[in-house]
Amino acid sequence: MRTQVGIIGAGPAGLFLAHLLAREGISAVILESRSRADVEGTIRAGVLEQWVVDLMGTLGIDERLKREADFHTGITLQWDRSRLHLDMAELTGGKRVTVYPQHQVLRDLIAAWLARGGEVVFEAHASAISGIDGEAPNVAFRRGAGGAQEELHCDYVVGADGFHGPSRQAIPDAVRREYQKIYPFGWLGILTRAPRSWHELIYSNQADGFALLSTRSPEVQRLYIQCDPHDDIALWPDARIWEQLHARLELDGWTLQEGPIFQKGIIPLRSFVCDPMQHGRLFLAGDAAHIVPPTGAKGLNLAVADVLVLSRALAAQYARNDGALLARYSATALRRVWKGERFSWYMTTMLHRNPAETEFERRIHFADLDFVRSSRAAATALAENYVGLPFDAP
Ligand code: FAD
Ligand code: DHB
Repeated sequence: MRTQVGIIGAGPAGLFLAHLLAREGISAVILESRSRADVEGTIRAGVLEQWVVDLMGTLGIDERLKREADFHTGITLQWDRSRLHLDMAELTGGKRVTVYPQHQVLRDLIAAWLARGGEVVFEAHASAISGIDGEAPNVAFRRGAGGAQEELHCDYVVGADGFHGPSRQAIPDAVRREYQKIYPFGWLGILTRAPRSWHELIYSNQADGFALLSTRSPEVQRLYIQCDPHDDIALWPDARIWEQLHARLELDGWTLQEGPIFQKGIIPLRSFVCDPMQHGRLFLAGDAAHIVPPTGAKGLNLAVADVLVLSRALAAQYARNDGALLARYSATALRRVWKGERFSWYMTTMLHRNPAETEFERRIHFADLDFVRSSRAAATALAENYVGLPFDAP
C-alpha cells in the first residue's frame, strides 16, 4: 500500500489529521488495531474546547454535534462546603463549554472520512516503523490475528497510536526525553440512567476528595469519583459509589438524582510528556506524545491541537516545498502541550485529596480556590485555560 501520510491510530488525533490533510489535497491512510465497533464504543473524554467545536464546523462534521451536544456557559467548583459558579462565557468573551463525548466525535469523524472515500484499515496492528531517517519510510502491519505481514509505504509517518502504541519507541532513546508524574489517586467513572441533577458540570473537593458531575444526555449522566488507582472495581458496589457521590457533591439541600449504573471503570491519573515529538520523517501526535490527568478536560483537545499544527506544516511542505514549519513541529506543539500539562496538574492538585497531604497542603488548595473566587484575574485565567487557550500556531 502507498499513501502520502501514513497514520497509525484512529483516535481523535489520527482522524482529525486525516480530515485536515484531505482539505489540503494530501492523501492519508489510517491503520487502526481495534475494530470499528470497539473504537466507536469506548467511553472516554467528554468536553470539547470552543475552537475544536469551531474546527468541526469548518470541516463540515458538526451536524450531529449541533443537535445533540450540551452547551454550557459555565461550571461550578465546590470545596470546604462552599460553591463557586464560574461564568465561562462572561469571563472569556462568549466561549462555551461543549459536552459531546469522544466516541460520538469519533463516530462522526469515521462516517465522514469513509463517506469521502477515505481509508481506515481496522483491525490492522502496526508493529514496526522503518526508514524514518531516509525519504521512504514504511509501517509494517498485520490485518487481524492471522493475517500476513503487509507494508504501508509513505512520505511521512504519524504516530497517533495513543500512550501504549509503538511509535514513541521508534524515536531513539539517545534523543528522547520523557517527563512523568504519577498521581496517588485514580478516577472511578460511571454512566447511570438518571435524569440531570444540575444543568452544568460540578467539580468538587469535599469529604473524602474529588467528585465530578457531568452528563451525556437528559437521560444518561456521567459521574466520576477519586479512588485508589489500584482498587479492584469489585470493591465499589453501586451503593458505595452513590454514598461517596452524595457526600462529595451535595450541598445546601441540593440532592443528586440516582439511577441504575450500567458502566463503570477505574483509570489511573498521570502526566507525561515526550520531547521531541518528531524524529526524521516520524511525527507523534496526541496521547502517543503526552498524557494529562483528566481534571482539566484537556486530553482530547491537546491531541487535536497537535494535528492542526502538523497539518499546516505538511501543507506548507507539499504545496511550497517549505519544510520550515515541519522542522519546528515539535517545538510549536510542545509550547501548547506544556500549558495543557500545567493547567491539568493545577486543577488535579487543587481539586483532589492526596492521601499523603498534610492539613497545611489541604489549606493551600482551598486558598487557591478561594483566590479564584476573590480575584477576577484568577477566575479569568482558569476560564481561559478551560475553554481553550488561543491557538498560537502560525
Ligand atoms: P487514542 O484515543 O488513544 O487513539 C489511539 C488509537 O491508536 C487507538 O484507537 C488505538 O487502538 C490505536 N493503536 C494503538 N496501537 C496501535 C497499533 N500498534 N497499530 C494500530 N493502531 C494502534 N480525557 C479527558 O479529557 N477526559 C476524560 O474523561 C478522559 N478519560 C479517559 C479514559 C481512558 C480510559 C483513557 C485511556 C483516556 C481518557 N482521556 C480522557 C484522554 C483522552 O481520551 C485522550 O487524550 C484522547 O483519546 C487522545 O487521543 P489520541 O488520538 O491521541 O489517542
Ligand atoms: C468529562 C470528563 C472530564 O475529564 C472532565 O474534566 C469533564 C467532563 C466527561 O467525561 O464528561
